[in-house]
Amino acid sequence: MKVLLIGSGGREHALAWKLAQSPKLGKLYAAPGNPGIAEHAELVGLNIDDHQAVAAFCLDKAIDLVVVGPEAPLVAGIADDLRARNIAVFGPSAAAAQLEGSKGFTKDLCARYDIPTGAYRRFSNAAEARAYVKERGAPIVVKADGLAAGKGVTVAMTLEEALAAVDDCFDGAFGTAGAEVVVEAYLDGEEASFFCLSDGKTALALATAQDHKRVGDGDTGPNTGGMGAYSPAPVMTPDMVSRTMKEIIEPTIRGMSDSGYPFTGVFFAGLMITAKGPELIEYNVRFGDPECQVLMMRLKSDLLDLLHAAATGTLDQISAEWSDDVALTVVMASKGYPGSYDKGTPIALLPETSVGEKIFHAGTAMKDGALVATGGRVLNVTATGKTVAEAKTRAYALIDNVKWENGFCRRDIGWRAVAREN
Ligand code: AMP
Ligand code: GLY
Repeated sequence: MKVLLIGSGGREHALAWKLAQSPKLGKLYAAPGNPGIAEHAELVGLNIDDHQAVAAFCLDKAIDLVVVGPEAPLVAGIADDLRARNIAVFGPSAAAAQLEGSKGFTKDLCARYDIPTGAYRRFSNAAEARAYVKERGAPIVVKADGLAAGKGVTVAMTLEEALAAVDDCFDGAFGTAGAEVVVEAYLDGEEASFFCLSDGKTALALATAQDHKRVGDGDTGPNTGGMGAYSPAPVMTPDMVSRTMKEIIEPTIRGMSDSGYPFTGVFFAGLMITAKGPELIEYNVRFGDPECQVLMMRLKSDLLDLLHAAATGTLDQISAEWSDDVALTVVMASKGYPGSYDKGTPIALLPETSVGEKIFHAGTAMKDGALVATGGRVLNVTATGKTVAEAKTRAYALIDNVKWENGFCRRDIGWRAVAREN
């Protein structure tokens, strides 16, 4: 099969690495890709915002499957525009991508299908939102409705913080994403990410992971896209997984299909495991980054088969096998991230890796024949082990041999799980 992979992050490097292991892969193209992805794919300089140009490329090269990594092209309708030309795509339509693109859309679906989630209301003006916040009291959560690069959510522990967040949204801090606001109940528990494929009718559970969103050790400092992850998430016991499938994922698939937006692709459910069981915090309509990296390290099945089955409606004929090992990844980021940082800083050396170790590239580029850091999140140093502690030790041993002066990382990825192991 010929495959076009869209994206350029660590997530896409992990997908490319795994796709390249498939005996069924004929040729892999990636747009725009990065130097890590280039080890497995031919990079093509397509403008991915120009869906007709992407379709023309696919038809010209007889591409059998397009795999879309990030959410933005999905929300912009790339899957619709390619399917209209009979090109198979792994990823949802723009209408189905509203599960990530509009928090209000997802909350309304939860309400209609009795999916457990925090009680909520939607607002389009500040006065009513403020009145509701005052009536409910803190802690309470204020969310810009649309995509706000992960910055549109305020978990307010005080009334003042919540009211300030409402004002920020309506004052335009998140642009049009904040023109509508969701205010929801604060959920107390442990978070986990649950991944599941869907072809519109059938759901196939993949695996679980835990992200580390804050920039600093001990979960301090501002939120980021994710500073490290491990899989599996110990809080997701077999019972929690089956409850999540039954109470959250299956009604979502039914609801999307009933609404005329059957969902094809990967559900990335952000869950809070509360005293009552799994509750939905949010959906994403793509693999997590860096969660994907640890999932791919543990996947024993052929990724191409799985993604192709999701794209072509044959998920009922396939299963996914996972290694019992733990995988853990540590994100190395440019100093200053998630604020401003220097671009183009040299990465002098990446260490050799052995089996069960991998350094995925995110924001890297080649400049005059040398590797440089161009993004905020730059490298994902990943290792497996029999325990979280072992995977963590191996990953940090690799990191200690990365020579990149402008890089930093958290030193405590996996701390909760390591504490639990002890
Ligand atoms: P989201 O962008 O919706 O994933 O929210 C970002 C983060 O805010 C989540 O990963 C949670 O840590 C936190 N969060 C979101 N909604 C809630 C909630 N209802 N209760 C507690 N924490 C929440
Ligand atoms: N790591 C969180 C995300 O991909 O949204």
